Amino acid sequence: MSAATLSRNGARVERQPLARYTTLGVGGPAEVWFVADHAQLAEAMETPYRILGGGSNLVIADEGVSERVIRLTGPLAERDLEPDPALSTSEEIVTGWVGGGVPLPGLVRTLQKLGLSNLEGTVGIPAQVGGAVWMNAGTRYGEMFDGLHAIEIVTPEGVRQVSPTDLNWGYRNSGIPRGHVVSRVRLKLRRSTPEAVLAKMDFADQARKGQPKMKTPGCAFKNPGGVSAGKLIDEAGLKGTRIGGAMIAPEHANFIVNLGGATATDVHGLLTVIRQRVGVPMELEYELWPEQP
Ligand code: FAD
Ligand code: EPU
Repeated sequence: MSAATLSRNGARVERQPLARYTTLGVGGPAEVWFVADHAQLAEAMETPYRILGGGSNLVIADEGVSERVIRLTGPLAERDLEPDPALSTSEEIVTGWVGGGVPLPGLVRTLQKLGLSNLEGTVGIPAQVGGAVWMNAGTRYGEMFDGLHAIEIVTPEGVRQVSPTDLNWGYRNSGIPRGHVVSRVRLKLRRSTPEAVLAKMDFADQARKGQPKMKTPGCAFKNPGGVSAGKLIDEAGLKGTRIGGAMIAPEHANFIVNLGGATATDVHGLLTVIRQRVGVPMELEYELWPEQP
C-alpha cells in the first residue's frame, strides 16, 4: 500500500489491494481514486479507468489491474430522499439525487421504514446504487429499474441525464455501456406503508435462505432463457467441486465461494469446469478484471 496523494482536483489517490473492496475477498493492487465530486470524477476519467461499486459482482486477478480504479465517495455517496413537490403526487414520489456510491442495502431498509415501495425486491443485494443500476440488479420480486426516475451518466465526453425509457434495459442489463459511470439517480417510489413494504421484502428475503453465507460474488452465470443456471450446474453433479480455495457451493450451485485463500485463478478454473460440464451455453454474470480471452 502506498501513501495517499491528492490529485489536481483534490481526489485522494492511493495504491491499494482490491480484495478489501470485493465480496469474494480476492484481487490484487491498483491505483484507487476516491472521487467526491464531478470535477474529480472527470479528472479520474482522463486516462484508462474502471469503476468499482460494491465489488459484489467482480473476480479481480491476483495481479490486480493496470487501469485507475474509481470509487464514488463524499456527496456522490450521499442520498436526498426528500420528495420533489413538483414531481410528486399523493400516490408517487420522485426523490432528490441519490449518489451512485450509496450502499443499496441501507437504502432499501430506509425506504421500507419510510413506507416507500418499488425497490424492496432488491433486498439482500450487496451492491452500491450505481453498480446495481448499471447491471439492473434484481430478483424475481423486482429490479432496480422498477424505481428509477432519472439517471445521471458521466463519460469522458461529459455529463448527461437520461430517463429509463431512453434505455434498452432488461434482465441484468441497463443498456448503459461499460465505462459510463452512473454518478447519481433520482428514484420514483410508490407511497405505501412500512408494514406492507416489509411484508413484500420478507417474501423476497425468503428466496435467499438457500444461498451460501460465505464470501462470494453472487451468481456466476445469468439464467439462460429463464432456467435457473444453478439448477443446471447442480444437475451436472458439480456441487462441492473444489479448485484450490474456491468451491461450487453445496447450498446453491450458481455460487462459487471462497473457502479462505482462494485466488482468481481458482475461480476461473471452476468457471471452465462448469462450462465444460453443463451442456447449455451460459453467459457469465460476473465480471472478470482484467477480461479473460
Ligand atoms: P461491482 O461489483 O463493483 O461492479 C460490477 C460492474 O458494475 C462493473 O462493470 C463495474 O464497473 C460496474 N459499476 C459499478 N459501479 C458503477 C457505477 N457507479 N456506474 C457504472 N458502472 C458501475 N445480483 C442480482 O442482480 N440479484 C441478486 O439477487 C444478487 N444477489 C447477490 C447476493 C450476494 C451474496 C452477492 C455477493 C451478490 C449478489 N448479486 C446479485 C450480484 C451483485 O450484487 C450485482 O451484480 C450488483 O449489481 C453489483 O453491483 P456493485 O455495486 O457491487 O458493482
Ligand atoms: N436449484 C437447484 N439447485 C441449485 C440451485 C437452484 O435445483 O443448486 C433450483 C431451486 O430449487 C429452484 C430453482 O432452481 O427450484 C430456482 O432457484 P432460486 O430460487 O435460487 O433462483 P435462481 O434462478 O437460481 C435467481 C437469481 C439470484 C436471485 C434469486 C432469488 C440469477 C442468475 N439468479 O437465482 O440472483 O437472488 O433468483 O430471486 O438470475 C445474482 O444474480 O447474483 C443472484 C444471486
